[in-house]
Amino acid sequence: MPKLFAGNWKLYLTDEASVALARAYGEAARETGAEAVAAPSFTALVRVAAALAGTEVALGAQDVYWEDAGAHTGEVSPAALSALGVRYVIVGHSERRAMGETDEAVARKAAAVLAHGMTPIVCVGETEEEKDADRREEVVRSQLRAALDGLHPTSERPVIVAYEPRWAIGTGVPCEPEEAAAVHRLIRRELEVLVGEGTASVRVLYGGSVDPSNVGGFLARPEIDGVLVGGASADAGKAKAMMAMAAEA
Ligand code: 13P
Repeated sequence: MPKLFAGNWKLYLTDEASVALARAYGEAARETGAEAVAAPSFTALVRVAAALAGTEVALGAQDVYWEDAGAHTGEVSPAALSALGVRYVIVGHSERRAMGETDEAVARKAAAVLAHGMTPIVCVGETEEEKDADRREEVVRSQLRAALDGLHPTSERPVIVAYEPRWAIGTGVPCEPEEAAAVHRLIRRELEVLVGEGTASVRVLYGGSVDPSNVGGFLARPEIDGVLVGGASADAGKAKAMMAMAAEA
């Protein structure tokens, strides 16, 4: 499988800037041949979808709710996302877990995304305190179990896992590729237990302070199937440079 470049634009851009960046992604994907995902804010989805039409860049969303309709003020349904052409949905991002999102909510969201024919990008990762207390393996394993139990991914219904250690997000200090690769091996072993044969269809991405200067180290690791990039993905020039490396890897 080709290595995936996924851009999580977080809350960095206006709708206007998102449209311009989407155009730049489309061009960069055409020039580099990279497989790319762009995940703008909810408010920009409609215009970004239009800007990406006819390009190879897939539309992503940064979150979702698990119900299709009802009295859920402020939530966005998987049905609505799918109708807009969204193909990937980030669930369980640590910035949402830090605001109280539980493992149970992440599991419901991942299942709802799959049920609507989209691909969940399930984020897992430990905090600095958990790392220092030698609890990384236990935390990653239990987050994975909670999110993937019962999902049964297949090549027709793929799931993506993103290993994003919280201490590496937005800090400018990424996990060493060697260290990330070891966690990816752990995730693979756990996936074999959780989803058996479906494991082959699961891509495992790394995220956390990835930029053009360090992306090559992650992409060179066979255990790492691509990258989920925040800050640097919101810069057209940096995104293109990373796409070019992902396409070559
Ligand atoms: P940064 O690349 O800004 O560290 O963010 C990573 C991330 O959270 C992607 O989802």
